Amino acid sequence: MTENIPGGRVAPEARIEAPTRGLDTLADARYSTTGDDRKGHVALVGAGPGEPGLLTIRGLRALEAADVIVADRLGARSVLDGLAAEGVELRAEVVDVGKLPGHHAVPQDAINELLVTLARDGKRVVRLKGGDPYVFGRGGEELAYCREGGVDVEVVPGITSAVSVPAIAGIPLTHRGLATTFTVVTGHDQIQSLGGTRDHTVVLLMGVGTLANSAITLARGERGADCPVAIVEDGYGPRQRVTIGTLGTIAHQAAVRGVRSPAVVVVGDVVRLSPYAPAELAASALTAPPALD
Ligand SMILES: C[S@@+](CC[C@H](N)C(=O)[O-])C[C@H]1O[C@@H](n2cnc3c(N)ncnc32)[C@H](O)[C@@H]1O
Repeated sequence: MTENIPGGRVAPEARIEAPTRGLDTLADARYSTTGDDRKGHVALVGAGPGEPGLLTIRGLRALEAADVIVADRLGARSVLDGLAAEGVELRAEVVDVGKLPGHHAVPQDAINELLVTLARDGKRVVRLKGGDPYVFGRGGEELAYCREGGVDVEVVPGITSAVSVPAIAGIPLTHRGLATTFTVVTGHDQIQSLGGTRDHTVVLLMGVGTLANSAITLARGERGADCPVAIVEDGYGPRQRVTIGTLGTIAHQAAVRGVRSPAVVVVGDVVRLSPYAPAELAASALTAPPALD
């Protein structure tokens, strides 16, 4: 594909690999455990939120064919443990690069370099990342580094925590009559500029440390202090817990309950749909017939 650029230059040919489809995906030579294609390769695989059942089939095939798995801690490690518990035997060596929010056991540069070195050695490498590699996951940087290093690389999307963790708490991000839009931001982002009302759902990742500030900022806008908020900690994990309040109360509730990362924060009227919502916030309260006196 070429593109004419104003000024007469022609953009270099951009090649987007056609996705393999249907059963061809499963027959991809890169994921064959029996073939003799030993060319090094990197797959940036989204592990989903940490529950092995939410890994994609293509992701599982990549893990099965891998020589080395370079894994984050959040999401990725629990998927590997869950697969082992279900009797899935992976022959790959696992390198734990131990990335937790705000704590990078191995710096990003070293991870990039490791991927390229392993692939150049002819290894099939899976870079297993929590959620989706392209959602606040630095997947784009790792992909670019591999490409610049001349390494064959692909992205296997994963189920992002931004959508799946609210789902486990019964919260859809859009819902007819309650929300038509959603925005995913991090707690570090400038959320002052986020407009919208309660029908515009806001999802905060990495938002525990900055929750009090975010709540004050969002409450100042059209959402108001009584806008519903949910915090879902450790979605699909052993510490899974849901805390529901409003923009005006949530920081205090989080402090009292000792809310910890990882957690997804959801702001907006869709929170009312959660079965964990207290009666006064529940969606039924919006439509309940007036009390008879
Ligand atoms: C660096 S971001 C990576 C997001 C990831 N790429 C994704 O698509 O889910 C890490 C943040 O994701 C959220 N997160 C990921 N997994 C989670 C889980 N199982 N439960 C709650 N929050 C989770 C938390 O907000 C955490 O701080």
